[in-house]
Amino acid sequence: MAEGENLPALLRVLNGERLETPPIWIMRQAGRYLPEYRELRTRAKNFLDFCYSPALATEAVMQPLRRFPLDAAILFSDILVVPDALGQKVWFVEGEGPRLTPLLGEPKWTFGEPEKAIQRLAPVYEAVERIKANLPAGVALIGFAGAPWTVGTYMLQGRGGEKDEARRAIYERPDDVYALLDVLVETTAQHLAAQVKAGADCLQIFESWAEGLPPAIFQRVIIQPTRKLIDRVRALGVTVPIIGFPRGAGVQIGAYANETGINALGIDTQTTADYAFEAAPEGMALQGNLDPQTLVVGGEALDRAARDVLIAFKSAPHIFNLGHGITPQATPENVERLVRVVKAGL
Ligand code: CP3
Repeated sequence: MAEGENLPALLRVLNGERLETPPIWIMRQAGRYLPEYRELRTRAKNFLDFCYSPALATEAVMQPLRRFPLDAAILFSDILVVPDALGQKVWFVEGEGPRLTPLLGEPKWTFGEPEKAIQRLAPVYEAVERIKANLPAGVALIGFAGAPWTVGTYMLQGRGGEKDEARRAIYERPDDVYALLDVLVETTAQHLAAQVKAGADCLQIFESWAEGLPPAIFQRVIIQPTRKLIDRVRALGVTVPIIGFPRGAGVQIGAYANETGINALGIDTQTTADYAFEAAPEGMALQGNLDPQTLVVGGEALDRAARDVLIAFKSAPHIFNLGHGITPQATPENVERLVRVVKAGL
């Protein structure tokens, strides 16, 4: 048997192989568009408790896999468990999103020790072990974390939305911001390494707020911390592939793909496949980039958009995915239809 033939399709593509039928998974594939998730969610009093319950997190991961023949599972957790574990207050407001006590309101920023934070995240690693034990053959398990800048913006501002205050802080309090990013680099590296130790087959780093940064600042708050993060993850003995997803990075995806040490590049909705081919190193696996809104609309518009993505990425090692997370308004029927179209091929 040729080398790699037993590997899940996702891992083969991450190793640079081009498959006739690309593997597919969907960012935020477990979540509120599934009625069974909404039911399960009522069993925990808040979202962080849900994330810290290995039984509930495992069940949430399994739900989409029972419905759809997906090629990967992603750990059920959140990028904001890291600030929570570092001792910042984090909570979720129903229908609005995450809230944190903003660092920008405080003259001095202090954080817990990375090692202590990782101890507090033990239930996450227990969830990874349980998920791994429950996964069907051929389905790869993805561990993840938010990138330092993206998690840092939430910590600075205390919420999502416009990132103007976080960007101003880079100019106003550069040393404080860089120190924050260093704490996040170390804690996130240990967090990712612990997920791999518990059974994750590969990793994704979500840089959801890569947009709107001048190139020099992009270097300083995105590329350098991500490079340090990946170097540190490797120094901790991790060898699995790492997907970087710099959403909104635009013309800076080339620098990101070439300079951070990632093994595969997540492509957002606005970016063309041809631009990504030119920008990324030769042969790098590319993941993306269907518009999540097509999963709300469905029908032939969805079929056409899905096939356009297949055609656009045909010549690359490609992982079919969305260009951003699935929305609560998407329907399970449309997801089923999408997976059917992708598996049918061109
Ligand atoms: O299948 C999966 O991918 C589930 C695991 C997952 C969640 N969040 C669960 C979740 C992952 C990979 C994330 C990543 C995440 N979290 C990101 C990066 C990806 C992206 O979309 O850009 C970000 C920025 C966050 C922070 C965060 N957490 C936001 C902005 C929200 C949405 C708030 C809302 O209510 O819409 C969350 C909450 C959250 N994380 C939910 C889920 C399923 C919904 C909350 C709930 O179910 O009660």
